[in-house]
Amino acid sequence: MRQYIINLDPKKMPDAWYNIGPDMPEPMAPVLHPGTKQPVQASDLAPIFAMGLIEQEMSPDRFISIPGEVMDKYLLWRPTPMRRAYRLEEALDTPAKIYYKNESVSPSGSHKINTSVAQAYYNKIEGVRELSTETGAGQWGTALSIACSMFDMKCVVYMVRVSFQQKPYRRSLIESFGASVLASPSDTTDIGRKFLAEDPDTTGSLGIAISEAVEVAAKSGGSVKYTLGSVLNHVCMHQTIIGEEAKLQLASVGEYPDIVIGCCGGGSNFAGIAFPFVCDRIKDGRKVECIAAEPAACPTLTQGPFAYDFGDTGMYTPLMKQYTLGHNFMPPGIHAGGLRYHGVAATVAHLQHLGLIRSVALKQNPCFESSLLFAKCEGIIPAPESGHAIRAAVDEALKCRESGEVKTILFNLSGHGNFDMTAYDAYLRGDLQDLEFDEEAMRRGLSCLPKVD
Ligand SMILES: Cc1ncc(COP(=O)(O)O)c(C=O)c1O
Repeated sequence: MRQYIINLDPKKMPDAWYNIGPDMPEPMAPVLHPGTKQPVQASDLAPIFAMGLIEQEMSPDRFISIPGEVMDKYLLWRPTPMRRAYRLEEALDTPAKIYYKNESVSPSGSHKINTSVAQAYYNKIEGVRELSTETGAGQWGTALSIACSMFDMKCVVYMVRVSFQQKPYRRSLIESFGASVLASPSDTTDIGRKFLAEDPDTTGSLGIAISEAVEVAAKSGGSVKYTLGSVLNHVCMHQTIIGEEAKLQLASVGEYPDIVIGCCGGGSNFAGIAFPFVCDRIKDGRKVECIAAEPAACPTLTQGPFAYDFGDTGMYTPLMKQYTLGHNFMPPGIHAGGLRYHGVAATVAHLQHLGLIRSVALKQNPCFESSLLFAKCEGIIPAPESGHAIRAAVDEALKCRESGEVKTILFNLSGHGNFDMTAYDAYLRGDLQDLEFDEEAMRRGLSCLPKVD
């Protein structure tokens, strides 16, 4: 009998997050203060982030214990199942073995809640009562609103305007957990009003929504703290529970992946599935290939230069060395809203710079095509973001069909697409455009990169 589902005994669930920083073969470039251009200190970040999270951001420790209260929340949906996609393998007629980790079973429907509960917890124990944040597709806003309701905290979410319009039920879902949601840019912040004045019809971007949420925290006098759904070291680290579990699950069936794939917006999802395997590559020389799958309409890792840039459009955040399309690059309104980000996590960028991971850029129509094949085989409608990982996995499996190699492929199904049916509807009607990457917009974006010696 085939074993489709590979579960992990909750008693064997890893109880620490993996911090890749100390294992980097070459040190990462420092994060710089946007004004002085000197390395940031914890005190620079204290006005907007909880101190417990700032300590994790700068931690020299390879593993950080998961607090009991966070473990208790994780146990509501973790360990997540791993599945062998036998039916997809057959549909592709490939000798490759395809496994996927299913993060869509979480209460919020995606991986994002792995960090939202941790971030809400560290803020709560420091006495913070309200959190502000941005959201692209709405997945992060959902995850943070659920975490805030678990810890009895208030929450305000700036939702990128194009997603606010494309995904009304995602907005209702966030509100159902008690958070307030505003279309970004909004008229509630200085930076929002500035962008609205420049272009009243703007689709918005993650970069602008981040600026609004940061401004709310910075001007609150400490009563509101900001939380980010991706990019930062501590956020990527909270997601490593995915890859750590995956390793144990694969080992339980005598497997180790040749290829590990995650879709990549700000980078935390990719980090979550891949970093525990990148660790094996760095420390034990394992030949595991980790692939970040990004949208061709916002090809940060595949086309952007490796340079210092802001994390937001309003230039409030510290400067991080990353691959970037420029902090004011406005990505086209593709349906994978969570992948519309101009930059990427510094850890992911550093690993690509060192040649320890690689990236691919994919157009949205082929991603939806593979997502529907996956749905027919596996019975799950994937989030459009996850569809990028599926497409990359399908492409690797098809290469195996050509070469006859029996590779083991692992990807992360970062979320379900049950609130993304407008996108599937457009695809099924043939109305979905493969929005071209705007090189002129990137040139404009790159001309504004901050000067750093
Ligand atoms: C379902 C899903 N997968 C992946 C991503 C991308 O995540 P990250 O920013 O961590 O790369 C998002 C972002 O919103 C998402 O909603």
